[in-house]
Amino acid sequence: MSAVVQPSTIGAHLLEVAGASKRFGGVQALQGVDLRVAEGQVYGLIGPNGAGKTTFFNVITGLVAPDAGRFRLAGHDYKPSAVHQVARAGIARTFQNIRLFASMTALENVMVGRHVRTRSGVWSAVLRTPGFKHEEAAIRDRAHALLAFVGLAERAHQQAQTLSYGDQRRLEIARALATEPRLLALDEPAAGMNATEKRQLRTLIETIRGQGRTVLIIEHDVKLVMGLCDRVSVLDQGRLIAAGTPAEVQRHPAVLTAYLGSAHEPFETHEQPQELQQGEDPYRGNWAVKPDAPHGAGDTA
Ligand SMILES: Nc1ncnc2c1ncn2[C@@H]1O[C@H](COP(=O)(O)OP(=O)(O)OP(=O)(O)O)[C@@H](O)[C@H]1O
Ligand SMILES: [Mg+2]
Repeated sequence: MSAVVQPSTIGAHLLEVAGASKRFGGVQALQGVDLRVAEGQVYGLIGPNGAGKTTFFNVITGLVAPDAGRFRLAGHDYKPSAVHQVARAGIARTFQNIRLFASMTALENVMVGRHVRTRSGVWSAVLRTPGFKHEEAAIRDRAHALLAFVGLAERAHQQAQTLSYGDQRRLEIARALATEPRLLALDEPAAGMNATEKRQLRTLIETIRGQGRTVLIIEHDVKLVMGLCDRVSVLDQGRLIAAGTPAEVQRHPAVLTAYLGSAHEPFETHEQPQELQQGEDPYRGNWAVKPDAPHGAGDTA
């Protein structure tokens, strides 16, 4: 792995979002959402199905244009209008509906992510100049290192579509890390994982945090949220209804009310691995990433 990210402003907020709003037709998916994530935190974003969590990720990473909102990363305003600009600003993400280049190898998927940080222009790539070849070799080395880091060293040359769900989710994390993000946003990274994989995931996220990166995570699993997150915000029907430590949020009356009748408990424990039928799409509600969309539309932000 690369050198530890040095926090430039210790204790300061890395991500500051104020008044994020987004409407889809008759659905107010986000309404004036404020969120501030301190550098070095693991920050949880939870809420019942359809609360707007994925929309929030889509908005901060440039996949969906917000109707309103102010967005700051490391003290600088950024416009979440283009996926590549967001990646360059220092945010990378994974997707609730896994987005990988299905027929490319694990290694190639990570190398694609790495290209965000390269300097060679199109012509040097076409002409395969020495500078380009040198950079390509460095990208490959780095991609191997990232695969090893997430526990996929043995799978480097396997096609992404042949990997288990758990491995695909780890591969998405490796691809996201390839952009050297300051903020890593994970949308339900434990979905489809068994208990052992979830424990490994927790260790992985703790290691990522230990390197100085900040993590924003959407997750339903109590053990992960309680064990990992420094702070948690709760969305319900597009509005922020509570924020605090996991323990504070867990007993917040508005949170308990919001989850009544929901498919999820506020802090649900998935001890059993989810059984996935072949061909079944286990991931719900992510409209921006339709299951029939091509795997990996080229964005790694
Ligand atoms: N591109 C879109 N077009 C239309 N409606 C959308 C779109 N994206 C999200 N929505 C709607 O916005 C609301 C919030 O959806 P979102 O996917 O953000 O919820 P979520 O909190 O991530 O839910 P889940 O836990 O099920 O993943 C839902 O009512 C959803 O149907
Ligand atoms: Mg979602």
